[in-house]
Amino acid sequence: MDRARRALITGGAGFIGSNFTLYMRAKNPDARIVVLDKLTYAGNLENLAPIKRDANFSFIKGDINAFETVDSVMREDNIDTVVNFAAESHVDRSILGPRAFVETNVMGTFTLLEAARKNWLGGGASNDKRIFLHVSTDEVYGSLGETGYFTEETPYSPNSPYSASKAASDHLVRAYHHTYGLPVITTNCSNNYGPYQFPEKLIPLITINALTGKPLPVYGDGGNVRDWLHVEDHCAAIETALDRGKIGEVYNVGGRAERKNIDIVNLICGAVDAAVNSDKALRELYPFDGSRKKLITYVKDRPGHDRRYAIDCAKIEKELGWTPAVAFEDGVRATVDWYVKNRKWWERVMSGEYVKYYERQYGGRSARP
Ligand code: NAD
Ligand code: DAU
Repeated sequence: MDRARRALITGGAGFIGSNFTLYMRAKNPDARIVVLDKLTYAGNLENLAPIKRDANFSFIKGDINAFETVDSVMREDNIDTVVNFAAESHVDRSILGPRAFVETNVMGTFTLLEAARKNWLGGGASNDKRIFLHVSTDEVYGSLGETGYFTEETPYSPNSPYSASKAASDHLVRAYHHTYGLPVITTNCSNNYGPYQFPEKLIPLITINALTGKPLPVYGDGGNVRDWLHVEDHCAAIETALDRGKIGEVYNVGGRAERKNIDIVNLICGAVDAAVNSDKALRELYPFDGSRKKLITYVKDRPGHDRRYAIDCAKIEKELGWTPAVAFEDGVRATVDWYVKNRKWWERVMSGEYVKYYERQYGGRSARP
């Protein structure tokens, strides 16, 4: 990070937000970092424990929809950088209950933009460090066939309540630049994986179910394709966009690592088998006879399931010099090792609300004929 920013990181207790907060702290000890997070089921202060005593860091439990809260943080901390991770982020939950997605992803982003407009464009000294970086997703582009890639020019075609709410937020961010001159950058990234990911998403869910000997639910025929990026690479892309990105621009971020879901599930089974078999204590903790691939269970498909995502990240590579560094298979093995070593973390987040969600999402999901 090239400058000592004064950053408001929203959603900084979630998966990518907490990885980014720790990354930014490590890169720039002089940066002022304020995390604002509502601590929904997906937010976990434990993720930020390594920096909780840092004098240049504060945590505020709050909602991005609360204008007074956001406004006072921006004013009192003289914020020059907003990185907006706060969102409802899980597609399956958006199908079960879309309202929270509209409230947080659309109205919450709108509220943040209004606070930035008031604080940055309402008169007073200007500051050329100011950036509102909106973290978005490749899902806004819809679904691809067997070939082709999403570029920054691909028309929006969101298919789930989640992606529709993210698309709406992207449009608002764009409009605030175009209309008011707010200094914004939007990044649209592909599927992330790595430490601290909530176990509702494919990679941590399959890892933990494989460890604990539970069925491994594969939606539909398992042939859906996603483009995977290690979270550390996403953090580096956001840092690059903050340091060298052009105001008003959009950057697609992806891993050039397209994989079918079933191939990922098989890869995780192999990684879990290898990790457990190599250690006597783990063999006793997670006894299993044979390969965990036998736990694979094809289940009823996700409604409206997008078939394929693939990002063309040539723009951020060529114009800003960022490129993904973590090879997918290495990243997955490291991630499996993290979940093996951090059982207390996932046991805590999988109690309470998670049990109800899991039952609702998977309990009545019959095996695919
Ligand atoms: P996450 O669900 O793990 O974390 C979201 C965080 O936002 C949580 O800490 C939650 O408490 C907080 N939050 C939710 N509603 C809030 C509100 N109203 N006010 C304040 N905080 C609130 O999500 P994630 O996977 O870390 O994703 C972060 C961002 O990156 C999202 O905007 C998502 O759309 C985007 N994104 C995610 C991926 C991915 O693969 N996970 C890929 C591309 C883009
Ligand atoms: O593409 C970026 C998006 O990636 C982000 O914007 C979202 O926040 C993030 O959740 C992710 O969305 P996906 O829907 O692609 O991720 P998920 O981990 O839920 O699913 C990945 C693929 O695996 C998808 O094709 C559905 C499938 N799947 C998922 C789960 C949870 C299964 O087959 N079984 C499962 O149990």
